[in-house]
Amino acid sequence: MELVVAGGGVIGLTCAWRAAQAGWAVGLFDPDPESGSSWVAGGMLAPVTEAWPGEEELLELGLRSVALWPEFAAELGDPGLHTGGTVVAATGTGDRAELDSLADHLARLGRPVERLTGRELRRLEPALGPDVRGGLSVPADLSVDNRALLASLRTAAEKAGVRIEERAYRGEPADTLLICAGAHSAALHPALRGLVRPVKGEILRLAHRRGAFPMPGRTVRALVDGRPVYLVPRPNGLVVGATQSEQGFDTEPTVGGVRDLLRDAERIVPGIAEYGLVEVAAGLRPGSPDNLPLIGRLDDRTLVATGHSRNGILLAPLTAQLIVAVLDGGSVPAAVDPGRFG
Ligand code: GLY
Repeated sequence: MELVVAGGGVIGLTCAWRAAQAGWAVGLFDPDPESGSSWVAGGMLAPVTEAWPGEEELLELGLRSVALWPEFAAELGDPGLHTGGTVVAATGTGDRAELDSLADHLARLGRPVERLTGRELRRLEPALGPDVRGGLSVPADLSVDNRALLASLRTAAEKAGVRIEERAYRGEPADTLLICAGAHSAALHPALRGLVRPVKGEILRLAHRRGAFPMPGRTVRALVDGRPVYLVPRPNGLVVGATQSEQGFDTEPTVGGVRDLLRDAERIVPGIAEYGLVEVAAGLRPGSPDNLPLIGRLDDRTLVATGHSRNGILLAPLTAQLIVAVLDGGSVPAAVDPGRFG
């Protein structure tokens, strides 16, 4: 049986790889695999610190998927899985209250997190500055080097027999089509119109320079006067993200976005002032109406896996499991079924 996958980000590659392993003849189309949101991303695998009241189903999916990650990463060789964990820092009183309500919410769900004072957080992460007044420690929220991951996935997919073509999908016939085109997915099937929209995120890459203050060992997330910012460690630097705005398919980084990220990140980790600024980029998260992904069947010959919003990399192993189950005649949980909007 033949499967065509439209889109070669982390979702498309993972589904293509798993489908090929399950015996499908897979062709994958992407005009520029190293440009989409998977390439721009920060790579956080953070179900708990992305969990907000009202998003309990997303938390459940994230926890299921993060549990798959160690074995998934091991199968891929070394895609840069970072298991140092995550701390969340607050600056002002309002930020601390916000984190307290997140901790209360998690405790009510039976997922307590450790609350720490500013001093305790600095003992864990000496890179944190004096403006950090308190926060949380969440060792189970991980990260991965998204670019190393994409390279490992491509190698694994090709080894499993996936044929990758670096051009756009133009309606090539196949037994089954799987749409994984991220924020661009809605253009590929009428049932997706109005369900997937681009959510712009600006992000920076910083390089540690000799003599600069050592990098944090964990992912550092923070609220700075209500604005969220994160710093994700890489072997020789940090990824700093991310703004969030809805401006159609605009991927031009703005001066204001870069200024906000640098100002807020420096409040939390003052040592970054000595780092190199090596990349400024913007990507388009594929937003969905309820922040849950759309995974499953659209019609007799079309499947979809998109709408992962802020959690595509985290949800990749679980998404591929669900897609392989659908290819095999199975069903998906109602929470992710693309037909749930009626
Ligand atoms: N996953 C973090 C972000 O979308 O910015």
